[in-house]
Amino acid sequence: MNSYAYYNGKFAKRDEITIPLSDRSIFFGDAIYDAAIGSYDRILWEDEHIQRFLDNANKIGIKHNLTKKYLSELLREVAIKSMIDNYFIYFQLSRDLPIRTHSANGCGSNLLITVDPLEIKPNFTPLKLMTIEDLRYGYCDIKTVNLLPAVLSATKAENAGCDEAIFIRNGIVTECTKSNIAIIKQGRVITYPKSNRILPGITREHLRLICERISVPFDERKFTVDEMISADEILVTSTTKLCKTVGYIDAIPVGGKDPYLASKICENMYKEYVDLSLK
Ligand code: PDD
Repeated sequence: MNSYAYYNGKFAKRDEITIPLSDRSIFFGDAIYDAAIGSYDRILWEDEHIQRFLDNANKIGIKHNLTKKYLSELLREVAIKSMIDNYFIYFQLSRDLPIRTHSANGCGSNLLITVDPLEIKPNFTPLKLMTIEDLRYGYCDIKTVNLLPAVLSATKAENAGCDEAIFIRNGIVTECTKSNIAIIKQGRVITYPKSNRILPGITREHLRLICERISVPFDERKFTVDEMISADEILVTSTTKLCKTVGYIDAIPVGGKDPYLASKICENMYKEYVDLSLK
């Protein structure tokens, strides 16, 4: 595949990048990352993605000397060098120590960036989802590469012919394997509150802003599986999906009761991406 990468100063095709065993993402998943989509030299919601990346690095205490400006210029440079017009850009900061020891004292850091082709097409086909027990740990708000529960759940969902799995913790809907989830009920958008149980998605934040713009109440509160199944609509948001409705959960038909509001929100979100490509 036509993929491009950067690692600690080296720019090359993805297959030509090697990662040393001192990179603690390998033994410990000791790394944070972020991911965005872009067109040419423009990255959608770049500022927010870089800010979340730097905040996450600080939250787990990775020592580095990256600034927002430097990262912004470097991401653009890698995107341009990739020669990929529409892409998914991933950036990861890991700790580095040439010996396998749990303590993170005395570590340096490594910066990895990858660029893969991705063009989002206007596809508003409702998603098929399945529920799965949320067995993740208590740092879901930090975008780290410790993604085993997400990997296992996403695989299970794919094998069941579903687009994604929805995590359920004690009967409460938290989020999906790689997206946030919200319901629409009587004209209100409802989603799990920001906490250590979910990733504070950038797209989720743009869902909130769109709701504000079109005067739709946005409630951050917990909701149950039953509430979700009987909701008027269900919305899934993420960098690569933008905003999509849901048609089936565990093979039960769901949503479809407020198509006007759901499509208005999805179209508004898609427009932010189209506007970026047209800039
Ligand atoms: N996933 N929740 C989880 C667990 C996620 O992994 C993601 C993003 C989101 C949505 O966040 P955002 O709107 O900032 O993309 C919510 C990305 C796309 C990934 O890991 O590739």
